[in-house]
Amino acid sequence: MAPTHRHTSATLLLHFFAAVVILSGGGSVDAGGREVRLGRRNLISNGLGRTPPMGWNSWNHFHCNIEEHLIRETADAMVSTGLAALGYQYINLDDCWAELNRDSQGNLVPKASTFPSGIKGLADYVHSKGLKLGIYSDAGNQTCSKKMPGSLDHEEQDAKTFASWGIDYLKYDNCNDDGTSPKIRYPVMNKALMRTGRPIFFSLCEWGVEDPATWASGIGNSWRTTGDINDTWERMTKRADTNDRWAAYAAPGGWNDPDMLEVGNGGMTTDEYRSHFSIWALAKAPLLIGCDVRSMSKETYEILTNSEVIAVNQDQLGVQGKKVKKDGDLEVWAGPLSKNRVALVLWNRGSSPATVTAQMADVGLSPSTIVDVRDLWAHSTLASVTGPISAYLMPHGSMMFVLTPKS
Ligand SMILES: *[C@@H]1O[C@H](CO)[C@@H](O)[C@H](O)[C@H]1NC(C)=O
Ligand SMILES: *[C@@H]1O[C@H](CO)[C@@H](O)[C@H](O)[C@H]1NC(C)=O
Repeated sequence: MAPTHRHTSATLLLHFFAAVVILSGGGSVDAGGREVRLGRRNLISNGLGRTPPMGWNSWNHFHCNIEEHLIRETADAMVSTGLAALGYQYINLDDCWAELNRDSQGNLVPKASTFPSGIKGLADYVHSKGLKLGIYSDAGNQTCSKKMPGSLDHEEQDAKTFASWGIDYLKYDNCNDDGTSPKIRYPVMNKALMRTGRPIFFSLCEWGVEDPATWASGIGNSWRTTGDINDTWERMTKRADTNDRWAAYAAPGGWNDPDMLEVGNGGMTTDEYRSHFSIWALAKAPLLIGCDVRSMSKETYEILTNSEVIAVNQDQLGVQGKKVKKDGDLEVWAGPLSKNRVALVLWNRGSSPATVTAQMADVGLSPSTIVDVRDLWAHSTLASVTGPISAYLMPHGSMMFVLTPKS
């Protein structure tokens, strides 16, 4: 990126969030020509997560009911539906993939009744589809289900096992710990993963209990800022709000994680799922699909495959958008994008229809700015508009835009 461009990005940021400017204002370019953000004391050095991770995880829909055919069919469906081509690359196993007991050498053992071909075979299959395989363990002596061992005191051995199987991503949970701080237990696994020499995306799942945004950027590529999501409007919106507090800490290489997507699991309306997906994309959250992708409805498919919303999530600037205005249940969320553009979500969180309005100043633009307004759900553009920008929204509904200022 040319220095002048970085300067303009920083100028836009200045209007947005003073705190972010302090963190990212001193950008420089590393040997590979990539922009490096200074001010975050440490950045995990596995080179992964330059944009938020995208993929699928078994937990939200299947919980412990997973087996190898399901995972293979999911990988097949990710490709045949076009989700893989849109960037959803990780196929992530959650809890319950292993036997309760380690083998006589202390190794984790894939559960014979559900993963008879082993995890290496599964990784080979997933890789043959051009996808990556993620796995799950825990920074305690058993996982949350208590149906398999955790990795506490076995970090080195388990990291080697994962690398030898061809694992690309580790979600690391926080159940059944020994009473020590996550700040003690999570770095041990990070070091073990780094020592394998295999780049493995490291996803910290300590549920935000010790404010990981403030210490995890040198250890992991993402960190949960919240307890678990579930398939309800109430829980989803709570997770969005809690995650929003940590916006200033997200940047390329390390992301806040408000938990995985519930889109398509049936507990929310299409408007609610569209809002869920829009806010997760704007907040630079991991986009990990949590439904059965082998049997998506047309509505689910249209949400998860919206390439314009995905592009906001994957924007190179890597700044988390946040809630910039709240008037009762009527909210404006926004954040800067590359090329001086602005992402904007107008959101009616109330239970009756209402008009939500963003002033240009709410999104960091001067009132006289002329912008092209791209509606990311209607896929249409309103050219050369001056603010404010308003929308009449159904209960729990939202609209998402990209504003491009005319220079
Ligand atoms: C796990 O740790 C707890 C607390 O330290 C201990 O009571 C329990 O026996 C341990 N379980 C196993 C399977 O090691
Ligand atoms: C979601 O979480 C809430 C709050 O803990 C709980 O009351 C509700 O039963 C949960 N719903 C589902 C569908 O899991």
